[in-house]
Amino acid sequence: MDLQIRGKKAIMAGGSAGMGRATAERLAEAGVELYISARREARLVKAARDISEKYGVQVTPIVADSSTEEGRKALFAACPNPDILAITIKPPAPNGDFLNVTPEMWRESVDTALIGPIEIMRHYIPVMKDKGWGRIVNIATFSAKNPMLWRLMSGPARSALINYTACVSREVAQYGITINNILPGMFQTEGAEELIDVYAEAFGLEQNRDVVLTHFLENNKIPAGFLADAADMAPMAALLCSPLSRFIVGQNIVIDGGQHHSLF
Ligand SMILES: NC(=O)c1ccc[n+]([C@@H]2O[C@H](COP(=O)([O-])OP(=O)(O)OC[C@H]3O[C@@H](n4cnc5c(N)ncnc54)[C@H](OP(=O)(O)O)[C@@H]3O)[C@@H](O)[C@H]2O)c1
Repeated sequence: MDLQIRGKKAIMAGGSAGMGRATAERLAEAGVELYISARREARLVKAARDISEKYGVQVTPIVADSSTEEGRKALFAACPNPDILAITIKPPAPNGDFLNVTPEMWRESVDTALIGPIEIMRHYIPVMKDKGWGRIVNIATFSAKNPMLWRLMSGPARSALINYTACVSREVAQYGITINNILPGMFQTEGAEELIDVYAEAFGLEQNRDVVLTHFLENNKIPAGFLADAADMAPMAALLCSPLSRFIVGQNIVIDGGQHHSLF
């Protein structure tokens, strides 16, 4: 399928690994000029080079933490006028006992998972409005709709994010701008691997990858029966970045192998 975005300018904020990288690859494959950001430089620069070589498009790496004003300024300076904006951000680590969650932990979660994406969208929406076209996709989490006691640092801030985009997407649709969110379930990514020890500690397990994965699958009933790869969500993200999705506005698309039971 031709996504009809060849030659457009796209930002994948959080594009050096996991689902951000997989999305960046689908966009590059479709022929966009790409800007990818992340906090860690070495992996970012390598990802940009690899994607550029593989798909023959220009990929600019920007070292920038989306949760800080300074980081966002670096992103805005490097790419002032994108047509497409995709954003993902890693929230703080799982919280452990909910009684130990402090106001400081909430502030970090909100700064990262809510204010970071909102401030990036708030900056670029007027730019897209001037162009009369734009696509915005947040890669957030299914715990925005599927509350999990051990993911309080991720879910509540994202529930607020999807509330925000539900409002703003309806306001900006008249200018040819769509905003939609992907709410991923459990994916085997670099980010998930980094949480294995934290998960093991939270559930009193030995820090062995197989033990943790077995416990995880037993305690997260996934009808599809497996943990997905980042590539399993990227085609949907790319579609939402395309003119083909012009009538999809303000939606939250859960991609989780059927784990979350709800009608809407
Ligand atoms: N994997 C899962 O099972 C799962 C489940 C539910 C929800 N999610 C959500 O899905 C999203 C993607 O997860 P993932 O597993 O693909 O993560 P990942 O493998 O860690 O990839 C995240 C990407 O975003 C970058 N990034 C993270 N925080 C950033 C920040 N503050 N500023 C700029 N770049 C940042 C990372 O690079 P740097 O670290 O170098 O910045 C990396 O390039 C996250 O929001 C996560 O909470 C994941």
